[in-house]
Amino acid sequence: MLTRSRPSWFLPESAATPEGVYLNRRKLMKGLAGAAVLPAIGGFAAPALAATERAMLTGALDKAYTEGGPHRPLTPEEMNLHYNNFYEFGSQKAIYDEAERSLKPRPWTISIEGMVDKPLTLDVDALIKKMTLEERVYRHRCVEAWSMVVPWVGFPLSKLVDMAQPMSSAKYLEMQTFNDPGMASGIRTQPWYPWPYVEGLTMAEATNDLPFVAVGAYGKVLANQMGAPIRLHLPWKYGFKSIKSIVRFTFTDKRPVGFWEEISKQSGNTEYGFWANVNPKVAHPRWSQANERVLSTGETIPTELFNGYGEQVASLYAGMGDLGDMLYR
Ligand code: MTE
Repeated sequence: MLTRSRPSWFLPESAATPEGVYLNRRKLMKGLAGAAVLPAIGGFAAPALAATERAMLTGALDKAYTEGGPHRPLTPEEMNLHYNNFYEFGSQKAIYDEAERSLKPRPWTISIEGMVDKPLTLDVDALIKKMTLEERVYRHRCVEAWSMVVPWVGFPLSKLVDMAQPMSSAKYLEMQTFNDPGMASGIRTQPWYPWPYVEGLTMAEATNDLPFVAVGAYGKVLANQMGAPIRLHLPWKYGFKSIKSIVRFTFTDKRPVGFWEEISKQSGNTEYGFWANVNPKVAHPRWSQANERVLSTGETIPTELFNGYGEQVASLYAGMGDLGDMLYR
């Protein structure tokens, strides 16, 4: 019998999804896993699904989740595939068309550099093969005040940090997206933006259990528009920190300046600061963050501090003063 204990962030799909949809999807996933029709890039899909099946069997129907718990419907895959922020392909939500056609997620080289003893360059599939993949259902809250629930497949960022073995003097992890104007028209047509897209975390944040490197979603290889072949997801921070299509991880002692933070600075504003923790009490200078629109149902619900993940991450910011001040610093 499996006795795997459930981490406190665990949001089982059974709680995030209406029952009929959930049961159908379980059937579908079982069928797909057996029929070997899953895209097998990196050979990850089947093992990841098997792990999910195990998690389901070890008691996912927890009352805490089904009765008054953080019940939110899983965002349908179709909706997620057609409502994206990916400025490399333009500033509209419907960038899927060009991303599907133009982004070439394989071959894809990733470098791990900066304050590490041995800088490393490797193919994304070689990196995936080194990791044990799992599925995590996370809430996603965009700074634009909409939210989703996404079943990611991937590995904890902390495992990548373990592999990289950064020097003790490294204080931050900076991540960078591809910068190829030939592949993405938004880079060509919006030259005023400070490409490439960059984001960063403190080492304490990067080694927390929550940050997740996604290489798949909905039991499949990650779709181009969702940030193929490899992206980050930080469920307690506004979505702009969850950088897509990563090519470089750099360990550094200088605090990275994010893409949106730089844009904001250039226009004399302080809108998208380094910390960007979800906080309903701190309004964006141009709109409230008190509520969010759940994309799948259209309903408006109150936003939670740290997007409801305070138990896992609040200690990272202890002693840092007013949490409410942190979005825009
Ligand atoms: N990463 C890159 N490289 N470019 C982007 O424009 N947008 C961010 C984030 N990562 C963005 C990015 C924003 S604002 C959000 S809300 C999420 O990606 C959206 O992810 P999704 O399209 O998968 O929902």
